[in-house]
Amino acid sequence: MPSLISLAVVALSVSSAVVVAKSGVPDPSSDDSNKGNYNKTSCLYIPGDREYPHEAEWNALNRTVGGRLIRGVPVAAVCYGPDANATRCAELQHDWGVVNFFLDNPVAVVPPYWDNNTCDPFVTLGQSLSDCQIGNLARYAINVSDASTVAAGLKFARNKKIRLVIKNTGHDFLGGSQGLGSLALWTHNLKNISFITKYSSPGYTGPAVKIGAGVQFVELYKAAAARGLRVVGGSCPSVGANGGWRQGGGHGPLVSSYGLGADQTLEQEVVTADGRLLTVSPTKNSDLFWALNGGGAGNWAVVLSSTVKAHADGPVAGSVLFIDNTHDEKFWAAVTAWTKHLLVLNSLPRFSSEIFITKDVFALDMATWPGATQAELIEALTPFYESLRQLNITPTRNETAVQNSYVEHYNAYVGSDQIFTRNLTIGGRLIPRSFVQQETLVPNLTATIRNIVENNPDTTVYYLGYNASYARTGGVTAQTNAIFPAWRESLFLINLVTWTDPQATWADQASYLATINTWQTQLRDLTPGGGAYINEATFNDPTWKEDFFGSNYGRLSTIKKKYDPDYQFYVKPGVRADEWFEAADGRLCRVQGHH
Ligand SMILES: Cc1cc2nc3c(=O)[nH]c(=O)nc-3n(C[C@H](O)[C@H](O)[C@H](O)COP(=O)(O)OP(=O)(O)OC[C@H]3O[C@@H](n4cnc5c(N)ncnc54)[C@H](O)[C@@H]3O)c2cc1C
Ligand SMILES: *[C@@H]1O[C@H](CO)[C@@H](O)[C@H](O)[C@H]1NC(C)=O
Ligand SMILES: *[C@@H]1O[C@H](CO)[C@@H](O)[C@H](O)[C@H]1NC(C)=O
Ligand SMILES: *[C@@H]1O[C@H](CO)[C@@H](O)[C@H](O)[C@H]1NC(C)=O
Ligand SMILES: *[C@@H]1O[C@H](CO)[C@@H](O)[C@H](O)[C@H]1NC(C)=O
Ligand SMILES: *[C@@H]1O[C@H](CO)[C@@H](O)[C@H](O)[C@H]1NC(C)=O
Ligand SMILES: *[C@@H]1O[C@H](CO)[C@@H](O)[C@H](O)[C@H]1NC(C)=O
Ligand SMILES: *[C@@H]1O[C@H](CO)[C@@H](O)[C@H](O)[C@H]1NC(C)=O
Ligand SMILES: *[C@@H]1O[C@H](CO)[C@@H](O)[C@H](O)[C@H]1NC(C)=O
Ligand SMILES: *[C@@H]1O[C@H](CO)[C@@H](O)[C@H](O)[C@H]1NC(C)=O
Ligand SMILES: *[C@@H]1O[C@H](CO)[C@@H](O)[C@H](O)[C@H]1NC(C)=O
Repeated sequence: MPSLISLAVVALSVSSAVVVAKSGVPDPSSDDSNKGNYNKTSCLYIPGDREYPHEAEWNALNRTVGGRLIRGVPVAAVCYGPDANATRCAELQHDWGVVNFFLDNPVAVVPPYWDNNTCDPFVTLGQSLSDCQIGNLARYAINVSDASTVAAGLKFARNKKIRLVIKNTGHDFLGGSQGLGSLALWTHNLKNISFITKYSSPGYTGPAVKIGAGVQFVELYKAAAARGLRVVGGSCPSVGANGGWRQGGGHGPLVSSYGLGADQTLEQEVVTADGRLLTVSPTKNSDLFWALNGGGAGNWAVVLSSTVKAHADGPVAGSVLFIDNTHDEKFWAAVTAWTKHLLVLNSLPRFSSEIFITKDVFALDMATWPGATQAELIEALTPFYESLRQLNITPTRNETAVQNSYVEHYNAYVGSDQIFTRNLTIGGRLIPRSFVQQETLVPNLTATIRNIVENNPDTTVYYLGYNASYARTGGVTAQTNAIFPAWRESLFLINLVTWTDPQATWADQASYLATINTWQTQLRDLTPGGGAYINEATFNDPTWKEDFFGSNYGRLSTIKKKYDPDYQFYVKPGVRADEWFEAADGRLCRVQGHH
């Protein structure tokens, strides 16, 4: 697999935390005037406070959860102290830029911004353990096995007034899977996958699969393929099939065929803030089901399992096409031509695409068209080929093929053993179909993207072409789930990805986010109301309510109050997150007037 493609599909991701960034963009849930000056009785406790749980209290919790409590230890702790392991530490140094080692740890998180260099492996072996800090990662994690362990964790965090987080894989760019002094509910080991030949409900009859909260796409794709089925999932194999991805929306190459990840959900088993085990579906506790599917990750209830649609597998046509930039005006005209041609491509049932753009390369790194023949795919792309010919551009690579199944297609274009980098900061924008239809505006978008990549050689821009409209969701409507109108009306999703070094200082990490926020502002100015994808975003987007939730915010806010009145599930920028602020010492405090 060429490294460019590897980097490309690696693409989707993000980051961030507590920052008032250089640009002066405010943290959505803080008010500077509060930061150093809080009333502790309206705050949660953090380590160092007299009230923070003592050893004996943690031990009591451990007994309640049957010995499933784990003390949080950073992955690089193996490099420190008298028991340091040279082999393991060398492996970590080698792979510090990829996601692998962070996924299985009960508290570790992938995005460098949140990890914040508090314990990295680039040290003299055996250096003092006191130099390896847990930082903002959870202090303890419960190895979740069932509803009772979840309920015990919720109760403990509430009674002790400490922060609670949910950690699945730790991919969350916005920092939802970690928090200072927190107790984590670690869902990673809920790995059950069971197929249902014929699920039957008012909205759907057909094959389905019940997935435990800890299942990752790499596992789900394989299990489904073995049964002649495919499921909608992400481009990245290590992301959780049933955590933040689905709750925030969930995109991937099959979106144009069946809808977003959230559109696949049929029913879920969840534990609510008050410890109740509920089944939610379009007909049971339908308001909570609605919010849990598109209303943002980690803000509603703890999901134990989801039952989701499965679809009959079959051949999938795919394509790649690469162009080198040998002439700026022609190269950028080709980008404009692609953008306009998406109007045609996205009207073809089931067609999805992913391109990436740097100042030197345009790459269609994956076109996905289930059910189409090679000839049909070439025909669909021919108007774009024609544009290239008129511009006198010859692709450096141009291939189309048909694979026998979705997994074979995925492996051919993404790679079965793909290693995903964590060296990035991400943001983006959903671009409305109506914007591209006003053809004269497309060159303005191209100019904005050109300006970004020409001035920032470490940045790659992705256009993910999906049709997530109701026409494609198999009966799902605005009443079924909380996917907001911007997704339904979009022609493609822009991801702005700045490649960064995980060892960059925190100030640098914060500045990457601030820069991405300024680009998002430029795109917002071009596409008012366009919205953004909450899973691939900056945590400190100043217009987060509008960008991530749009007209759904009011209803989501009511549902939040109903199911989590004390706001135990805090994620930023979740619905009603602005009722809290983070004080200068990192503790979470209630904004006055919201008790
Ligand atoms: C390398 C990389 C590639 C990516 N590729 C894609 C992609 O192709 N398509 C796409 O749409 N997105 C993609 N994303 C974004 C991804 O969807 C989000 O990061 C998502 O939040 C990850 O969810 P998780 O459960 O795996 O991770 P976590 O960080 O463990 O959890 C994410 C959030 O979900 C909450 N959560 C997790 N599990 C539960 C649960 N059981 N109940 C309630 N809340 C829960 C957590 O509290 C947290 O806020 C990618 C991210 C990365 C880093
Ligand atoms: C990250 O670490 C720096 C010190 O290196 C500190 O100033 C900053 O507050 C930390 N950020 C977070 C989010 O904890
Ligand atoms: C702090 O907050 C608590 C609860 O909100 C309130 O009862 C108390 O009077 C406040 N104290 C101060 C000093 O403001
Ligand atoms: C919880 O108890 C188990 C055994 O009962 C023990 O192995 C584990 O270390 C304990 N966890 C903590 C954090 O002490
Ligand atoms: C050190 O790490 C290596 C590689 O992860 C492992 O195989 C080995 O068992 C470890 N050694 C000790 C003493 O733990
Ligand atoms: C990520 O950054 C590390 C440095 O910490 C570097 O060694 C590695 O090559 C980078 N990896 C990628 C894929 O960019
Ligand atoms: C978590 O629990 C599972 C069983 O549910 C067990 O297999 C696993 O070893 C536990 N993990 C840790 C780190 O304790
Ligand atoms: C997982 O499957 C096993 C065996 O079928 C079952 O005993 C267990 O209850 C299931 N766990 C969950 C969380 O669904
Ligand atoms: C790409 O390849 C297809 C056939 O595989 C061909 O029809 C088309 O003209 C090529 N496009 C360009 C721009 O070369
Ligand atoms: C688009 O670009 C043109 C030419 O540069 C400019 O005049 C116009 O104001 C721009 N429109 C918008 C909406 O930015
Ligand atoms: C999505 O597809 C439907 C039907 O195929 C079409 O009517 C609609 O315009 C398409 N939407 C977008 C944004 O391309």
